[in-house]
Amino acid sequence: MTQDEPRRAVSSAPGKIYLSGEHAVVHGELAIPCAIERRAMVTVDPRDDGRVRVSASDLSLSNFTVEYEQLGETLEPPRVDAPSGLVKDAMRYVNSAVAQARDALNNETAGFDITVESEIPLGAGLGSSAAVVVAGIDAATRAYGVELAKDELADRAYTAESDVQNGNASRADTFCSTMGGAASVNAFDCEQLQMPSEVPSFVIGYDGDSGDTGALVSGVQDRMKHGSVKSTIRTIGDVSGEVRGWFRAAEVEDGQPSDELLDELGHSMDVNHGLLSAIGVSARSLDEMVWAAREAGARGAKMTGAGGGGCIVALPEGDVATIERALEVTPACEQVFQVDVALTGVRVIE
Ligand code: PMV
Repeated sequence: MTQDEPRRAVSSAPGKIYLSGEHAVVHGELAIPCAIERRAMVTVDPRDDGRVRVSASDLSLSNFTVEYEQLGETLEPPRVDAPSGLVKDAMRYVNSAVAQARDALNNETAGFDITVESEIPLGAGLGSSAAVVVAGIDAATRAYGVELAKDELADRAYTAESDVQNGNASRADTFCSTMGGAASVNAFDCEQLQMPSEVPSFVIGYDGDSGDTGALVSGVQDRMKHGSVKSTIRTIGDVSGEVRGWFRAAEVEDGQPSDELLDELGHSMDVNHGLLSAIGVSARSLDEMVWAAREAGARGAKMTGAGGGGCIVALPEGDVATIERALEVTPACEQVFQVDVALTGVRVIE
């Protein structure tokens, strides 16, 4: 561990989509998350008074600034131009990242000025909190001269998320955001998957809303008293197994997945969406966007993340613009954008 002179550090980390397996992964099944080129950038300036000041602005949080001494105890009322629930949620993740950084630094009074800039809609299934936590811990530790190994960073980011979500978090988001690319994740292991050299890009439809991950996860937990929900969760794990197999088959095809193989991936996404609907985590807006993308020729489409509102992801065939246009005219859809897979996870900017 080296302790250089404290100085500004800036890190960025990507968001993610689930190609398969959200919710089921909380119950020990396999999931396949994939990092996307929509990033959160966190700038950390060390402070010698031990305080923490956080400023953020992103797609769904217009602006807020909070200054505090002890975690969670604000020194002055937050200057906020955003719904207070969203600010509170965002602050919990930042607090948790600060606690992890202080722990890694072995310095309980390390002070930070933190600026968060994010291109990832908040709470919409694209892993915004994981990206902020990963980039935040990385920048806050580097600001004090400590460079964490990626495994440790992923581990600490997971602990930070899990603390906020009362233990109801998988390693999927934080692992993917740290490492980049696609991963296969279950209760015990996270493994990076070999990315094909010709990586498809995806189209995202966003309804402008956010789901409550904790409530959605416990809703599924309640419904698991039904054998049919339990077996649906297991089937989602099977679909993730197929998607993992897809990556291996793409490797066999020299990293250039054939049309048939891409159709297979689309099919798995469609089946997965149906199963997520069956366990009660989709929403009318998500279903509408999924159908709009399919009718416009997508190879497959599904909700991504906790659900209840937020984003869908579509795998286009041919002309991406056709799917984008179809989503743009879907009343439930507020924003459409194309995303590439992020091959790099956390990145040092400064
Ligand atoms: O909506 P997100 O990006 O926070 O994804 C939640 C995914 C869940 O499987 C529902 C929970 C988890 O931590 O894996």
